[in-house]
Amino acid sequence: MIKRMKSGIPGLDRILKGGIPVGSLILISGGVGAGKTIMGLQFIYNGATKYNENGLFLSLEEDKAKLIEEGKVFGWDFEKLEGEKKAFIVKAELYRFDALKNLILDYISSFHVKRVVIDTITTLSLLFERPVELKKSISELASLFRSKECVGLITSEIPEGSSKISLFGVEEFAADGVIVLHSLRSGNYVSRAVEVKKLRLTRVSSKLYPAKITKIGYVVYSHEEFLKSM
Ligand SMILES: Nc1ncnc2c1ncn2[C@@H]1O[C@H](COP(=O)(O)OP(=O)(O)OP(=O)(O)O)[C@@H](O)[C@H]1O
Ligand SMILES: [Mg+2]
Repeated sequence: MIKRMKSGIPGLDRILKGGIPVGSLILISGGVGAGKTIMGLQFIYNGATKYNENGLFLSLEEDKAKLIEEGKVFGWDFEKLEGEKKAFIVKAELYRFDALKNLILDYISSFHVKRVVIDTITTLSLLFERPVELKKSISELASLFRSKECVGLITSEIPEGSSKISLFGVEEFAADGVIVLHSLRSGNYVSRAVEVKKLRLTRVSSKLYPAKITKIGYVVYSHEEFLKSM
């Protein structure tokens, strides 16, 4: 029986056949404003409040204060969770990859962190001159999460309207799973949809499922298929 970790994101675990296999590194890929950061925060918040799993949100982009404010909009109190040593938002400056890895290891051993989000790998990739080095680093993170029985979500920015699921085309090969957050603009309205491209140990459907960002966060309508034409 495969041990799975629930994301707690409404509708998503059903598509993931119960959740993310423990020990996986998952790429959350999407364009600007697709909901990557919100989904990452929600994953950490749910772990700490519903599943008794501590989390680390490693931001390589936005400041901690801004992320805490963003969480409040959805009713997620990260200051309280940090006080209780259950969830941590850390803004990491760009430095060496090894230092980043050690920081993650520190949180895993000091605070029993089981959920890690890195937002975004696109910033991290600036450290590397060649895509092959990026792929190697993601593989290193994947084996770290596997050996520590954690789940890592790594967000990845892709250009609007692109059919690619990562910027360098190597990230998805090093990941155990890929979830694409689509956002399609038509006029003043944004239609959102989720697609699970691959997931280790799991037979997933290739359908697009409608999604929304609501006042409780990211929500997937997993009983409906995305049939609406744009
Ligand atoms: N309270 C809310 N209700 C509905 N939608 C919201 C709310 N707050 C933010 N959004 C939407 O969420 C999106 C931003 O989400 P998020 O910051 O997670 O995206 P992202 O994929 O991380 O984007 P980026 O690439 O810019 O970092 C925007 O499209 C915004 O309109
Ligand atoms: Mg973001």
